[in-house]
Amino acid sequence: MNPFKYGQIVKGEDFCRRETLEKQLISEIRRAQNLYIQGERRTGKSSLIYETVSRLKKHRLIYIDLLEVKTATDLLKRMIYALWTYEQGVGGLGQVFKKLVHLRPVISVDPVSTLPTLTLDASVPLKPDSLPGILDLITANHLKTRPLVVVFDEFQDILNLSQAAETLAMLRGKIQFLTEIPFIFAGSVRNRMDHIFSNPDSAFFKSALPIQVGALDRTSFQSFISDKFENGQRFITQEVLNEIFDICCGIPGDIQQMCSALWEVTSHRNTIEHEHVSVALERIFAHESKGYETILKVVSGQQLQLMSGLARFGGKAPTSSVFLQQSGIRQASSVRTALNRLIDLKIVFHYEDEYRFVNPFFRAWLLAKGI
Ligand SMILES: Nc1ncnc2c1ncn2[C@@H]1O[C@H](COP(=O)(O)OP(=O)(O)OP(=O)(O)O)[C@@H](O)[C@H]1O
Ligand SMILES: [Mg+2]
Repeated sequence: MNPFKYGQIVKGEDFCRRETLEKQLISEIRRAQNLYIQGERRTGKSSLIYETVSRLKKHRLIYIDLLEVKTATDLLKRMIYALWTYEQGVGGLGQVFKKLVHLRPVISVDPVSTLPTLTLDASVPLKPDSLPGILDLITANHLKTRPLVVVFDEFQDILNLSQAAETLAMLRGKIQFLTEIPFIFAGSVRNRMDHIFSNPDSAFFKSALPIQVGALDRTSFQSFISDKFENGQRFITQEVLNEIFDICCGIPGDIQQMCSALWEVTSHRNTIEHEHVSVALERIFAHESKGYETILKVVSGQQLQLMSGLARFGGKAPTSSVFLQQSGIRQASSVRTALNRLIDLKIVFHYEDEYRFVNPFFRAWLLAKGI
């Protein structure tokens, strides 16, 4: 069976240990410090939190996912859902049901996964001022059995709410008194997370200790990957490992996706070599090319020229005269305008001292197609 997992939280055997970060997180959780976990997409923030808390035998996790949350009602329902999921995990009798009968909660069994699912009456609106009450319900579980860790993942999406500032103020007002419970706020869209934690006008200004999650240690992650291949009687050379890590710019989720494709295009007892890399990339392109073609449709000629230049010559100095000459763009100001548009479209992003493609496979596709 393909041992490589991507696009999901990885746990246990699928999680490559990150000892320094795990230790740091454990000690902060033990002293109930609120944390702000930040990192680029697919670097392993959610997995790190999950795995670390599950290794802490005493603590229990309430995990609230705010990805694409749009309204106050949606936010509150996600909090209720997180509490319900938690109660399922600890075999609780569904306190959430008793307290929230007005939301007409219904449990049904999902026909595909056969797991129980919770539905709340969509027609019952929830107001932001129900938030403290729901937070009370959640935190009432603290120490009932074991201490709690409460996680708000993709926290930046709370800014989508029309009453974002008020909601943040209400949340902060409540959380600041819950000094025994560590709250962890994780998010990946840097500017929006910064707005919440580093802007003096924000209710959450300096309210949590920042922890940066970067790429995994290259040597440990490479041996984790090569062990997975070896356990499946396949062997990968150091050169190919380096090639994969370079193509994927060290991003764990993309590396696992690439390894998964390499697994699919090779067989038992194969040694994975350079030739397999392009076959694996073709496989990824086959899955993703519709999305790539859509990008080509929405960008202008100038933006396309810039993408092509960034793919070929890198994004360290796109306004330099060398880059302008190589990519055939006349003026630095045109590069700036096109770059802003590509950033808005989430095609490229600024990382340390360079501009990078959000999806490294899109870059590889542009190169493979000679675009
Ligand atoms: N410690 C790890 N060991 C092995 N693979 C990992 C690890 N951390 C992350 N990954 C890989 O990255 C993928 C994404 O992980 P995760 O969802 O935890 O990242 P994230 O930073 O929360 O991503 P997002 O920004 O999309 O929420 C996983 O499915 C897995 O392929
Ligand atoms: Mg995540």
